[in-house]
Amino acid sequence: MEIKNRVALVTGAASGIGRATAIMLADKGARAVVIADLDETGLADTAEKIKSRSSEVLSLTLNVTSQPDLEAAYREIDETFGQLDIVFNNAGIVSGPPPYPDTHLDRITRVVEIDLLSVIVSSTLAIRYMRERGGGVIINTASTGGLNPYLADAPYAAAKAGVIMFSRSCGDLAQQCGIRVNAVCPAVTETPILEKTGGGQRPDWLGPILENIQLLKPEDIGQRVIELIEDDTIAGEYSVVANPPAGS
Ligand SMILES: NC(=O)c1ccc[n+]([C@@H]2O[C@H](COP(=O)([O-])OP(=O)(O)OC[C@H]3O[C@@H](n4cnc5c(N)ncnc54)[C@H](O)[C@@H]3O)[C@@H](O)[C@H]2O)c1
Repeated sequence: MEIKNRVALVTGAASGIGRATAIMLADKGARAVVIADLDETGLADTAEKIKSRSSEVLSLTLNVTSQPDLEAAYREIDETFGQLDIVFNNAGIVSGPPPYPDTHLDRITRVVEIDLLSVIVSSTLAIRYMRERGGGVIINTASTGGLNPYLADAPYAAAKAGVIMFSRSCGDLAQQCGIRVNAVCPAVTETPILEKTGGGQRPDWLGPILENIQLLKPEDIGQRVIELIEDDTIAGEYSVVANPPAGS
C-alpha cells in the first residue's frame, strides 16, 4: 500500500518506536497520522513534529486497555477523516523488577492486558472498519522476546508470543477482504522502555549483551513497519529486526 494520502493510527506514539514511526509516516506523505497514548505531554511533542511535516495530526489521550476508549477513538477517526487505512498497534510495557516469578500479580495482569489483549481488541475494531471499505494494513508490535523463552519476564514473553500467533492467524484476511495483518519483532531498541525494564535505570542484563551487539534505533523499527505497509505480498507473517553486531 502506498502511504501517501492514507490515514494511519499509531498507538504508543508518545515515545520510542511509536513516535519514530508516526513521524516517518508523515514523512511518507500520509494524509493524517492519529497518535494515541496515555502520555499527553509526549503526544504533544510527537504532534509538533508531525505538524512540521505536511500531514494532519489527531492526538488521542487514551488507555489502550479501555474498550470504550478504543471504540471512541475509531469513531472519532471515522468522523474526522472518513478513512482509516493503516493501524500500528504498538503501545506496550514490560514487567520491570522484581523478575518473574516475583512479579506483582497486578503487574502481570497489566502486561497481558496492554501487550496482548488491547492488540486483539484494537485489531478487531480495525478489521471490522476496514472490511467495509475494501481493505487496509495492520501491524502489531511483538518482540524477539516472543520467540525465545525468557524467565525474567515470562508474562511479557507470553504476551508477545500471543501477538505473533494472533497476527499469523489473521493472515487469511488478506484473501478474504484485503486486510493484511503482520507482526514486527524488534530486538533490543534504544527507547525509554529499557530504563523501565531496569526499574528506572538500564537493566543489569544489558551490559554483557552490549559487548556483542549494537542497540537498534526506533527508526530502524519504523523503517521495517513502513516496508510491511508498502509490500502488498506480506500477510500473516512476523518480521524480526535484529541487532547489528557490535563494531559493525
Ligand atoms: N525497546 C525495545 O527494546 C523493544 C523490543 C521489542 C519490542 N518492543 C515493543 O515496542 C513497543 C514500543 O515500545 P518502546 O520501546 O517504544 O517503549 P516506550 O516506553 O518508549 O513507548 C511505549 C509507549 O506506550 C505507551 N503506553 C503504555 N501503556 C499504554 C496504555 N495502556 N495505553 C496507551 N499507551 C500506553 C507509553 O506511554 C509509551 O509512550 C512496545 O510494545 C514494546 O514492548 C520494544
